[in-house]
Amino acid sequence: MTDQLLAPADASLDATWWRQACVYQIYPRSFADSNSDGLGDIAGVTSRMGYLAALGVDAIWLSPFYPSALADGGYDVADYRNVDPQLGTLDDFDAMVAAAHNAGIKVIVDIVPNHTSDLHGWFQEALASEPGSAARNRYIFRDGKGPDGAEPPADWVSHFGGSAWTRLQGDPNEQWYLHLFAREQPDLNWDNREVRDDFLTTIRFWSDRGVDGFRVDVAHALAKDLSEPLRSSVSLDSNLPLDGSDPLYDRDEVHEIYAQWREVFNSYDPPRTAVAEAWAPAERRMLYARPTELGQAFNFDLVTIGFGADAFRTVITTCLDEAELTGASSTWVLSNHDIVRHASRFGLPAGTDLGAWLMSGGTSPTLDEEKGLRRARAASLLMLALPGSAYLYQGEELGLFEVADLPLEALQDPIWERTGNEKKGRDGCRVPLPWSDSGDSLGFGTGSSWLPQPESYAQASVAAQDGRANSTLELYREALRLRRQLQSAEELVWVGGEEPQVLHFARPGGWQSVTNFGTKPVPMPPGVIRLSSSPIVDGTLPAETTVWLTDWPA
Ligand code: GLC
Repeated sequence: MTDQLLAPADASLDATWWRQACVYQIYPRSFADSNSDGLGDIAGVTSRMGYLAALGVDAIWLSPFYPSALADGGYDVADYRNVDPQLGTLDDFDAMVAAAHNAGIKVIVDIVPNHTSDLHGWFQEALASEPGSAARNRYIFRDGKGPDGAEPPADWVSHFGGSAWTRLQGDPNEQWYLHLFAREQPDLNWDNREVRDDFLTTIRFWSDRGVDGFRVDVAHALAKDLSEPLRSSVSLDSNLPLDGSDPLYDRDEVHEIYAQWREVFNSYDPPRTAVAEAWAPAERRMLYARPTELGQAFNFDLVTIGFGADAFRTVITTCLDEAELTGASSTWVLSNHDIVRHASRFGLPAGTDLGAWLMSGGTSPTLDEEKGLRRARAASLLMLALPGSAYLYQGEELGLFEVADLPLEALQDPIWERTGNEKKGRDGCRVPLPWSDSGDSLGFGTGSSWLPQPESYAQASVAAQDGRANSTLELYREALRLRRQLQSAEELVWVGGEEPQVLHFARPGGWQSVTNFGTKPVPMPPGVIRLSSSPIVDGTLPAETTVWLTDWPA
């Protein structure tokens, strides 16, 4: 069998292109800065489309680029149907979509339906309106408890620390409003018809502009039980009940919303795709991914486990089984804009408290960079061989580490302030990308960058890795090239072996992935070696390495 025979048909004509796509997440403010104001922008994305095409991704997902005061890095949206003037214009957006489509790349945008920015027209109108008014009813306003209403209406807490309620100063009733995230992110009331209709308008707006799909932020929080008295929410995201009875998260009614969105998605040809960010229990997560709803839901299970064969095997088996139950395809994630980069996670001792490690400036415990990168490359290669969609986060193809020693005065994540400086937050994975090995912001722009880049970024830059044999960038390029050729039905068969530290599976058509999670080399299984995450020595499979094999030569 030759590679050519295995090449898939033109993906742009295929309504199921997303099922096994490789999606590259762009954090726009940190990707490429075309006008050197220190902030990445839409034209910057367009200017790097050649890089993305050469990398071989099927789609890009852009984190929010909408007008925003950046209280939460753009996840505080002031206008859902526009581009932040600092990042460009709608014309720039259209040009970016056209360039992506010309390059055979789909475009996914982020929709943030749980909350708006406090600068959104609706919230400003609500502030200027009476308690009980229609304008306030788009959000969740309540009188406080206690004799003078000085206590919050419920004990609900913000994901970023502190109470999820803020009291309005100078308001006639000094009402409180709900914000499950920062106080600048008031929660919308999804029982309100106007709110529901407006988001249907928004998904049509972007679909009409040629957007291929949507990533749905905090998809599990929209439906809330707001009946009085407000009940305690048992937890933030973990340990949620399995019967949908928490007042805030993963309630059954939320699915009505996505069934309605699906009708809109399916009115386009090809139908628009969607993926839920739903921190629901594994048993219920796949409900969001039903074909009658969003189609996919992120599983973040690979993010929460250490580097070990048993843990990977369990997660893979569970997620594939879950996907099969609903007919969705599985998703895989090792890094994103909310979590410590996986090259760092895997280089820290098992069980490290990542928050405490960040607070130590990345010094305690010590990060073993060599090990971290070796394991990250092995894990990425394994992930890219799995059936389903792989979601990459910008910079992981360069093997970037978390920047754990950002100067405290540079930190922007609201978590830092809201926890009274007890948690640093997520800035360390959002540092602007290094494109060249010299210059003020290493080719990100020509001036400085909104978060400072560490010195090590020069050696990790695209320029430093481009064309260099065995660089992480070339590993990803080759992996994505081969993946396109070898990808076939969404099936995986485990291949048994003697070594407990080895995970070996085969995909239909004779593509095999073998990972040695152990610290000693093991015998190489038979087959033609097509790619390996570390150099092969003496024909054995090295420690902490993934190799791809086929039954036929290249
Ligand atoms: C999601 C986003 C995160 C954001 C939060 C609130 O979890 O990934 O970055 O802070 O939602 O919108």
